[in-house]
Amino acid sequence: MKPQPNIDAIRRILVVGSGAMGTQIGALFALAGYDVTTSDLDASALDRSREEVRRRLGRLAEKGRRSSEEVESALARMSYTTDSFAAACEADFILEAAVERIDIKRKLFADLDAAAPDHAILATNSSTIPSSVLMDATTRPDRVCNMHFFNPALVMACVEVVRNPETSDATVDTTVALAEKLGKQPVRINREIPGFVANRLLRALRAEALELEAAGIASFEDIDVAARTALGHPMGPFELMDLVGIDVAYLVRAAEHEQTGNPADLPHPSLKKMYEQGHYGRKTGRGWYDYEAQP
Ligand code: 3HC
Repeated sequence: MKPQPNIDAIRRILVVGSGAMGTQIGALFALAGYDVTTSDLDASALDRSREEVRRRLGRLAEKGRRSSEEVESALARMSYTTDSFAAACEADFILEAAVERIDIKRKLFADLDAAAPDHAILATNSSTIPSSVLMDATTRPDRVCNMHFFNPALVMACVEVVRNPETSDATVDTTVALAEKLGKQPVRINREIPGFVANRLLRALRAEALELEAAGIASFEDIDVAARTALGHPMGPFELMDLVGIDVAYLVRAAEHEQTGNPADLPHPSLKKMYEQGHYGRKTGRGWYDYEAQP
């Protein structure tokens, strides 16, 4: 009989990928008491990730959101490696937050599957690649799912847990329980659909905002003001594109178009232009807004 995942059996977690999402997700697991290894092929990315975690958790302690003991012990539970597969041998749960490319993720899932203990769940943070296109690269399709966090992961409460047709109930229940251990609000998604749920809601708002801006109905700044002050959103759609990344917004849309073939799913021309110009938002200093000009 196949070993079934169980929340009480999770002690060690491997996060593959030390970009913005992997960094904060690793910190979340450590704050919840898990031993965490973050892996990346790029050693300098791991150094940046370690520094970012120190900075973010240090701020939580300064603001009294967490005690300095909690922060220190979370930091002590975190380690970093360029050898994902050695770390996978000891992991009870693996969260992949690597680059959004199916070929790379399939290879990773095959290698992680070969290294990880039988009971381990292999989850992907991907918002665009459903686990059904990764599961057959492994020998454990019933223990594969999406566990999708939102940016910034330390702050946003929602985690979408998305099952593929083979995912077992024990895998879904364990992943939902793990999200709860992090203090998150899990949302169970029973069937894969491009964009899952939250990004589909966001997409509708963003598409309308881009149309209004392109038609000259209102400036992007004023559209953001309306979203904040009329609808109570914490950020307007243009500020949010800059936070998440124009590149991410563009590539998510392009991936959706590739899946559906529907011309209505093509990235908006304004997004395409900014993507081609390399204006990715906060990460490049310029997106809709100019961050270099700010004090
Ligand atoms: N990383 C970690 N923490 C951050 C942060 C970041 N990048 N930016 C802000 N924070 C923290 C601050 O430290 C602060 O913490 P505190 O309450 O303990 O002091 C808290 O968030 C609030 O920050 P600020 O007071 O500086 O600013 P705001 O009140 O404007 O909040 C925000 C910033 C949390 C980003 C808020 O504007 C927000 O919720 N924006 C919407 C974000 C959103 O919609 N995310 C979803 C994106 S879609 C997605 O991720 C899908 C994926 O598939 C692409």
